[in-house]
Amino acid sequence: MAYTSFFRDTDALNAIVDIAIPALAHWRSIRVWDAGCATGEEPFTLAMVFASKLRPFPFRNLDILATDYEESSFAQFGEQIRKAQYSRTDVFWIPQEHRELYVEPTENPEVFQLNQEIRDRVRYIQHDLLTLVPPETGQSLIVCKNVLMHFTPEDQVKVLDMFFQALVPGGYLALDGNQAMPEIFADRFKRLEPGVPLFQKPAE
Ligand SMILES: C[S@@+](CC[C@H](N)C(=O)[O-])C[C@H]1O[C@@H](n2cnc3c(N)ncnc32)[C@H](O)[C@@H]1O
Repeated sequence: MAYTSFFRDTDALNAIVDIAIPALAHWRSIRVWDAGCATGEEPFTLAMVFASKLRPFPFRNLDILATDYEESSFAQFGEQIRKAQYSRTDVFWIPQEHRELYVEPTENPEVFQLNQEIRDRVRYIQHDLLTLVPPETGQSLIVCKNVLMHFTPEDQVKVLDMFFQALVPGGYLALDGNQAMPEIFADRFKRLEPGVPLFQKPAE
């Protein structure tokens, strides 16, 4: 199921805003991988929260790679993310202060579009997590929410291990609040706050 919405899972999102973004703001380049992005509301949410926290220069160095395996052969997620157009009901979930800055009307009064500044930061490729080969390595932050629950416990471990390999030392991993971190990762992914699904790969 590809259900998603803007500004979903506020626990993980608030931790990204309060903990990960202030730390990443000092990095020369910020590479984010949103794994299992569905129709794009999640990667665009990330672009908006980064935009609101970063100065223009580090924001231009932000690269958000959005991936999904897409059951349909029409590559509709890629097309949706390229257009970045969403219905009035969809954009209702974007807090007003972000909507005013980053969402524009279109000729159709029921359809809205993320502005160019936000669109430029997000790119999409089709990718199946169960290949266990990351599309790109050197990631600063990986976000994987409401996806791992579809996998067997064995596959969850393999995918989390792939995320570990794809992150740079000191990089962050955000999951959804329902996703348990398997015990065998206790030394590898450090939970940053009790009960909050944001983890850090130890810096070397
Ligand atoms: C419920 S949606 C979650 C979307 C978004 N992450 C969120 O939390 O709002 C789950 C997504 O995982 C994707 N997915 C499922 N299995 C996958 C796989 N093996 N590789 C990549 N994406 C997968 C589905 O296509 C779907 O878009």
